[in-house]
Formats: sequence, C-alpha cells, structure tokens
Amino acid sequence: MDRREYFDGVADKWDGWNARAEMEPVMRQGLRELGVGPEEHVLDLGCGTGIMLGMLLDVLGPRGRVTAVDFAPRMVEVARGKTLDTRVEFRVAEACALPVGDGTMDRCVCFSTWPHFPDPRAVLVEQHRVLKPGGLLHVWHVSGREKINAIHAGVGGVIGQDLLPPVRQLADVAGACGFSVVSLVDNPDRYLLTARRG
Ligand SMILES: C[S@@+](CC[C@H](N)C(=O)[O-])C[C@H]1O[C@@H](n2cnc3c(N)ncnc32)[C@H](O)[C@@H]1O
Repeated sequence: MDRREYFDGVADKWDGWNARAEMEPVMRQGLRELGVGPEEHVLDLGCGTGIMLGMLLDVLGPRGRVTAVDFAPRMVEVARGKTLDTRVEFRVAEACALPVGDGTMDRCVCFSTWPHFPDPRAVLVEQHRVLKPGGLLHVWHVSGREKINAIHAGVGGVIGQDLLPPVRQLADVAGACGFSVVSLVDNPDRYLLTARRG
C-alpha cells in the first residue's frame, strides 16, 4: 500500500477520527491570525475531507476563491460532498505537479499535510511556481512537531516515517527555493512556517 491508497482508504472515517469540535475554534483563530484577505485566491493543499474549507470560505468574500487539492480521490469526493459553494474548485493532484497556472495563487495553506510529502523541496518549487510574487505559504499544524511525529510513528505503516522537520530546517529549504521566511513557530500548540514568495 502506498500513501495515496492509505489516505483513500481512511477518507470515510477521517472526520470521525479528527477531534473536529475541539480543533475548529483553534483553526478559526489561526486563520484570522494568518490574515487571509477577502478577495484572495487560496490553495488548500492536501485538503483531505475539507476540514478547513468552510472556515476558509467564511473569511473570504464573494470574490475570494479556494482551489482545494488532494491526491486521494476519495478524500476529494468527501470534501466535494460538503459544499455547493461556487467559490471552490476541487482538484485531484499531486502536490508537486499542480494543475494550477503560474503565479495565480495569493496564498497556500498546507494544513496538517507537510510531513506526508516525500520530496518537500519539489513541493516548495511547485509552490514558488503557483504563488504570485509576494504570495504566502503557510505550513501549519495545530500541534507541535514532537506530537505530530509521535502520532505518525504510532500509526506506523506507510506514514510511520512521515516526520515534520525542525521548523528552522524547513525554513532553510524554503529559503533555498526562493522564499523569504516571515515567521517560524514550533511550540506544543502550533507548528507554523510562513514564507513569502520572492
Ligand atoms: C493528514 S491528512 C490532512 C487532511 C486535511 N488537511 C485535514 O487537516 O483534515 C493529509 C492529506 O494530504 C494528502 N496528501 C498526502 N500526500 C499528498 C501529495 N503528495 N499530494 C497531494 N496530497 C497529498 C492526503 O491524501 C491527505 O488527505
């Protein structure tokens, strides 16, 4: 089984596994802090079942848009089933080969997904391609690195080795890919890299 098959296989159980009710206020507050503007075009990279989608749509105005991408077709199907909002476009795609034009995104929010990318540098290069100059990338988790890594190690199998790097290490790779780092956080409640496309 590969990662794609794994995530496809857990898509129908995903919302039950996530402590959604507890996470929602934290995510809403976090999104406010990210400062998403009402007219932005936001890429929800690794959207899964769309846990963040409704919250993103709430902070966007009528001219805002979301492109929600995941490589697991069943994840996208579940997410698609949750909204008829015409501001969202869903895509089944690999994070390092996005069906998205050059320089078209104001912002990418990669929520709870980064450790699963086997080639993070390739994802950063792709982000650099799709973001507008000055666009922002957020690699965001609502727990710290140690907790995330322990969860994945505990699950084992194909995701057992999917580990978040120290945030400074990720910042260095982002810098080498043409981003300038805006902020770094790694505490027990949050892991967040915000980087601006140069
Ligand atoms: C841990 S889940 C998080 C999903 C969602 N963001 C959430 O918080 O509920 C990681 C998601 O990333 C997707 N994913 C993993 N590797 C990917 C890749 N290389 N390209 C696109 N999506 C990927 C998985 O299919 C899965 O839906």
